[in-house]
Amino acid sequence: MDDLTRQIEALREDARMRLAEASEGDAVDRLRSDLLGRSGQLTGLLRQLASVPAEERPAVGQLANVVRRELDEAIEARLATLRHGDLETRLGSEAIDMSAPGRPLRVGHLHPVQTLIRDLREVFHAYGFEVFEGPEVETEEFNFELLNIGVDHPSRDLWDTLYVAEPGSVESGEARPASDGTILRTHTSPVQVRAMHALEPPIRVLMPGRCFRYEAVDASHGFEFFQVEGLVIDRDTSLADLKGMLEEIARALYGADVRTRFRPGYYPFTEPSVAFDIGCLVCGGSGCPACSRSGWMTILGAGMVHPDVIRNGGYDPDEYQGYAFGMGPDRMTMLRHGIGDIRLLFSADLRFLMQFAEGR
Ligand code: DAH
Repeated sequence: MDDLTRQIEALREDARMRLAEASEGDAVDRLRSDLLGRSGQLTGLLRQLASVPAEERPAVGQLANVVRRELDEAIEARLATLRHGDLETRLGSEAIDMSAPGRPLRVGHLHPVQTLIRDLREVFHAYGFEVFEGPEVETEEFNFELLNIGVDHPSRDLWDTLYVAEPGSVESGEARPASDGTILRTHTSPVQVRAMHALEPPIRVLMPGRCFRYEAVDASHGFEFFQVEGLVIDRDTSLADLKGMLEEIARALYGADVRTRFRPGYYPFTEPSVAFDIGCLVCGGSGCPACSRSGWMTILGAGMVHPDVIRNGGYDPDEYQGYAFGMGPDRMTMLRHGIGDIRLLFSADLRFLMQFAEGR
C-alpha cells in the first residue's frame, strides 16, 4: 500500500471517531470544513495525487472519492440525529404515534325535514321571500286573538293547546295549574302579525318553525311538528297571484307533471280560504291508502289575509291586502320519502336518520 492510500485510510478512521464524538451541530459543521473544505485534510491529500505513479493513480483517486461520499453522508446523518434524535427511539418512547393515519370523522347531515325546509326557502327565495322567525313560546293573544280566533274556537280548547304554567302553580298540586296566557304556539300563523309589526310593506316573508299541540300521538299526529308559513302584504294582491305562485312552487318541488287543485276551505284569519292539493305521488291519482283513496294530497292551507288581521298588523285594509299560506313540512317530507309514520321523524333514531346522509 502506498503512502497516500495509507493516509487516506487513516483519515477515514480518524474522521469517524471525531464525528462520533461531535455532540453539537456546530462541532459537526466545523469538522466538515476541516475534512472536506477547500483547505481541508482530504482535499489536501488529493493534491498529492499528482505524485502517485500513473498506474496506481486511478485506484487511489477512486478511494478518495468513496471516502469523501462516505464522510459526506455520515456528517448529514449525524446532523439529522443531533437535530431530531434517533427517529425510531423517539417514536418508540412517545405515547402518540404521529405517523399513524388519522381516524376518519363521522360527518353529520341535516334532518330530512330541515332539508325540505331548506328546499322551500330556496324555491321561495326566487319569488323574493325573506325568512322571518317568531317565538315558539307565544301569548294567547298572538296565537289566537289577533288572528281572529275567538275565545270559543275549538282550537283554544285545553286539550289542543299546551299552556305554560305560572311559577309555583305546578308545585301547588292543583288539578289545573294557573297560566297567564302563555302557551306553546300551535301554528306559525302568529308570526304573520309579528312580521307586519316589524316590517314595512311590501312584505314577502317565509316563517318556518316548530309548533306544538296537546295531541294523542299516532302515525300521523305528533305533539310537536313543523310549519312553514308564508305572507305577502302589498297594495295590489289577489287570489290569482296566490294561485299562480303556488302552482309554480308545486312544480318546482314535485316536478313539471304534478297535478294541482284548489278547494274552498275555512280559516278564521283568511277570507276567502282555500286548501291546496297535489295529485297523489304514491298512486298517481288512482287512489291508495296514503291519499285516503281520493287521489289527492293536501299540502297547505291558504287564503287572502282577513281585513281584521291586516288591521291587527297595523295597516288599513282598504290600502293593503295580502295572502298567506301555511305548509306542513313533516307531511311533505313523508310524501317525499314514502315515510309511513310521523313518529320516526322525531325519534332521533340514528338507524332511521342515517338513511338521509347521502349527498348532504
Ligand atoms: N295555521 C293553519 C293551521 O295550523 C294553517 C294555515 C292555513 C296558515 C291558512 C295560513 C293560512 O297562513 O292562510 O292549520
